Amino acid sequence: MSVAPPVQAGLSRADLLEDYDRDRAGFVLRAARRYGPVVELSPGTVLISDGEIAHDVLRRTNRDFLMDRDRAWRPTDSRRGEDALDSWMHARRTMLSALSGGLVEEHLRWYDGELTTLMDTWATAGRTGDPMPPLVHLSTDAFLRLCVGPGTARHTRDGLSALVADLLGALNPIVRSSFELPWFLDRFTARRRRADRAQHRLDAALRALVNRPPDGGLIAILRDAGVPTDPLVRILVSATIASRLVPAAANAWLLHALAVHAPTGDPSHIVDEVLRLRPPTWLMHRATHAEEVSGPWRFPAGAALMISPYAIHRDERHFPDPETFRPDRWAGARLPAGAYLPFGGGPRWCVGTHLAKAQLTTAVEVFRRFRMEDVSGVVTADTDSTMYPRGLALSVARTD
Ligand code: HEM
Repeated sequence: MSVAPPVQAGLSRADLLEDYDRDRAGFVLRAARRYGPVVELSPGTVLISDGEIAHDVLRRTNRDFLMDRDRAWRPTDSRRGEDALDSWMHARRTMLSALSGGLVEEHLRWYDGELTTLMDTWATAGRTGDPMPPLVHLSTDAFLRLCVGPGTARHTRDGLSALVADLLGALNPIVRSSFELPWFLDRFTARRRRADRAQHRLDAALRALVNRPPDGGLIAILRDAGVPTDPLVRILVSATIASRLVPAAANAWLLHALAVHAPTGDPSHIVDEVLRLRPPTWLMHRATHAEEVSGPWRFPAGAALMISPYAIHRDERHFPDPETFRPDRWAGARLPAGAYLPFGGGPRWCVGTHLAKAQLTTAVEVFRRFRMEDVSGVVTADTDSTMYPRGLALSVARTD
């Protein structure tokens, strides 16, 4: 097979930034349609919107393709053989197995109750207002409750929740402008120092819990399974960040879809279809160290790769009429690897996949106990970082 460099879009970095910032997801979709599956948007920045190539890059992450940033957008050692990566992979294996066990069953009963209470509050008011803030609070609290167990007082979770909110607030300008500053300059900015202080406070609070794990929670399970303190704190910080905005955005898109389409079918198909059209993690990042080949493409050394599930999920070969919301397309669906990536893929796929899917399926069941109508003016997809609905408002009533 002959190997070629990516198609060149020939944009200057300034043009790229300007076009991209105007409408990020739209820009990515247009670039994919105009230039094809692999395009070098500006020197060293390559967009991948083909599932097969994306799958290969994700599969070879930690080896040929690197995750050179952590969730706080700091440079990390991400190659096999590096202590930081090896201990991370051990911690994530242990967390994955803990989150597929009995812990989640009790959690879902609690989650159903909390979401029902929220819907009841909205039904009493007759409408939601912006559903994002309460959904963000619930997502954060849900994961923290799993971490510390049901027996830990609510104010402990609220304290942690405030620290997670501070850290994400501080990281937001950094992640939003991730193309602007090279990290070695970013280190010296006031915003980075603010994020460092916020991370330090969350680290310290989680470290205290790791040193004296409360009974019945994920932290105690991971501790008992022998995950050492530092990697445990690191993955807890990452998972608390990951379980705040992203699951809340998925829930908000779900509310929107149920209000607009009132689908009646299998809840898991509804969840799959919502995450296909509105993958909250709509863009993933990888980097090359050396020159690498994937399929017919040769990626330059030192490239920043952008992988877009948002574009990949609109591939007509796998999803005919891709812009249409059709949960029934998932009945008996058999897709090639890489065609559907809401939770990523390869060795760094989402640790919370099982938990998140179970929560979302529970959410469909709760939402269906209410009658909802979309009373938003215009709903747009905010894509500054996580893709979430902006401008969403629903009327809500009890069905009984
Ligand atoms: C609808 C909900 C969720 C979606 C759509 C989602 C999506 C994703 C995606 C796409 C990635 C991979 C990013 C990449 O490869 O660059 C990821 C990573 C991750 N997610 Fe989730 N996630 C969700 C919920 C959660 C929850 C509830 C947790 C809590 C445990 C979680 C923890 C993580 C962690 C720790 C990682 C980093 C894994 C690593 O780097 O090894 N996620 N998530």
